[in-house]
Amino acid sequence: MNLPTQLTINPGHPLRGSYTLPGDKSLSHRGALFAALAEGESYIKNFLVAGVTRAMLDALTMLGVSWRLEENMLYVCSHGLSGWQGGYQPLDCGNSATTLRLLAGALAAAGIPAVLDGTPGLRRRPMDRIVIPLRQMGVPIEASISGTAPLVLHQRPRNQPLASLNYTLPVASAQVKTCLLLSALAASAPSTLSEPGPSRDHTERMLRAMGVQVESTIIKNAYITYLVPPVQVKLKPLNVMLPGDISTAAFLIVAALITPGSEIRLCNLGLNPTRTGLLEVLGSMGAQIEIHPGGEQGGEPAGDLVVHHSKLQATTVSGTMVVRMIDEFPAFALAAAFAQGETVVSEAGDLRNKESDRISALVSELAKLGVEASEIQDGFSIHGGRLPSAGQVEAHGDHRLAMALALAGLAGQGQVTVIGAQIIAESFPDFPSVLRSLGADIREGFGP
Ligand code: S3P
Repeated sequence: MNLPTQLTINPGHPLRGSYTLPGDKSLSHRGALFAALAEGESYIKNFLVAGVTRAMLDALTMLGVSWRLEENMLYVCSHGLSGWQGGYQPLDCGNSATTLRLLAGALAAAGIPAVLDGTPGLRRRPMDRIVIPLRQMGVPIEASISGTAPLVLHQRPRNQPLASLNYTLPVASAQVKTCLLLSALAASAPSTLSEPGPSRDHTERMLRAMGVQVESTIIKNAYITYLVPPVQVKLKPLNVMLPGDISTAAFLIVAALITPGSEIRLCNLGLNPTRTGLLEVLGSMGAQIEIHPGGEQGGEPAGDLVVHHSKLQATTVSGTMVVRMIDEFPAFALAAAFAQGETVVSEAGDLRNKESDRISALVSELAKLGVEASEIQDGFSIHGGRLPSAGQVEAHGDHRLAMALALAGLAGQGQVTVIGAQIIAESFPDFPSVLRSLGADIREGFGP
């Protein structure tokens, strides 16, 4: 596909109208993979068709799982984990850490040989956070010397269950938790995971719907997940309609908040409380966001949002709020740049391990637009209130950074060009056309 490498945005155009978001990325990954663990035919409607989910689907093809996409409906037909075909031909996870980490857990349960690899960007992401606990369970897995991909899993003797796990994650992470819950499906006894914060609980909800006993509790500030392995790793197929992605909506929410004269309605969004931290933080900054709950969709709370242009005040973000908005810091940084006063984000060091080092990349790119931003070790601060200037910024191979920086052009002093914008197709290929349909002056280019 010939993707535009540059986006150019001009200010002065209010955003108006409504938009129904594509399916949630985390739920799409889980839907595709968990359907492949089930025995039978699964239907996942409003599946996100984008770069990162393609990586998951292509890997499943190599494992011998058959699937078909009809527009946004994913159909998966599987014989369960016992039907997966292993081998040492690398499974290319592209840019997607979710694909790699979740597959590692499922492959550990399957006990078949596999190699998990991806782009140079993915090879920089830390994998020791799954390799160490997987080894504790007896999974024969190797990483490169720096604890990164490629990961190699070896065949485990047939009928030999894994050891159960009682493990504390140093950093709250739904990817790590999911990887370990999937491997725990093949353990000889129940496993318990403890996290310092409430990472997204989509896996628990979906596994429960598939017949697995998974429980969650909070004990003395620790977020505990307990999984009882089924007698056989045989799960019920899925038939779900996924809600829209709140992390993708974040860019449109901030776009409307900072662009004078805007009012937009975002329909059919996932409103799982483990994902709605951004709405609470923006609310405390003075954002006018109406929340219209619409019941459950695909086992997840969902609803519509109406977002009005608002005057924002600076705030601080730390503690358990960080994981509840972990993907939203690029969009949030733009809101902070338009808020009066100094916004400080701390206890968010894991942002350095995302698609880019989001602390350093955000600060350096915002500085190119004259925004007063500085790094701290585990976060950043932004002194907002002065409109970003015109300029050219870089995406650093990070889809969310590219979209966030584009927002500066909507309401700053002049034209902003984002270089490396093709990376946006990893999660939200329609970003430019959606913003245009809401009224923005945004153009795609094919420069160097
Ligand atoms: C995800 C969990 C988060 C998030 C990522 C998707 C998931 O990663 O940043 O985009 O689907 O479980 P971490 O688990 O590394 O925090």
